[in-house]
Amino acid sequence: MTYVEPIAHQVRLVDGTIPTAHAVQERRLSDLRGLFADREAEAALMAEDPLVYRVYDAADLPKEDGHLQFSTTVIQPGRVGDEFFMTKGHYHARADRAELYYGLSGRGMLVLQTPEGRAEALPMVAGTAAYVPPHWGHRTVNTGDEPFVFLAAYPADAGYDYGTIARDGFAGLVVAGTCGPRVVPNPRFRRDGPGT
Ligand code: F6R
Ligand code: ZN
Repeated sequence: MTYVEPIAHQVRLVDGTIPTAHAVQERRLSDLRGLFADREAEAALMAEDPLVYRVYDAADLPKEDGHLQFSTTVIQPGRVGDEFFMTKGHYHARADRAELYYGLSGRGMLVLQTPEGRAEALPMVAGTAAYVPPHWGHRTVNTGDEPFVFLAAYPADAGYDYGTIARDGFAGLVVAGTCGPRVVPNPRFRRDGPGT
């Protein structure tokens, strides 16, 4: 038997970073091209190409059944038109893999959808534990005016299907309203789902 060594990483609660992270992914607006509903606002902001979020992947684990990867996501505050800064969003490539999110700071929304297009949105603040069940596409949105930070723990073999979201979009968009953030239907959403 070969054992993987136990590990511990410090998550800095002041900013959500993991200084000893194995990998840091940076997503700028150009990495999310075409995902925001207001294409004119997106094009206007593209010259600046602001940072939208970073993901700190804690460990370099085998991407195999049985291992549990964990990471933090730090989403900057900001908007493209009325729509709040958000992650790209994905289904898991192994769609039956679940995930747990735990809010660390700021405020946001976890937006989910089934492959048939049923949408759900869960508000998240520091201390919120939110469950992403198997088969649900998921995206997070910063609805506040400071960075929104959460910890994610998920099977290391879950993988990412970004293509379905890039093609179909999300059923629900999170936009700024006069009484705060609200979820509105995405007129461009396609109901095809993964594997179609
Ligand atoms: C992993 C997971 C999160 C996201 C991260 C960035 O399964 O859900 O760690 O990967 O919040 O979002 P995406 O991957 O959609 O760019
Ligand atoms: Zn995920």
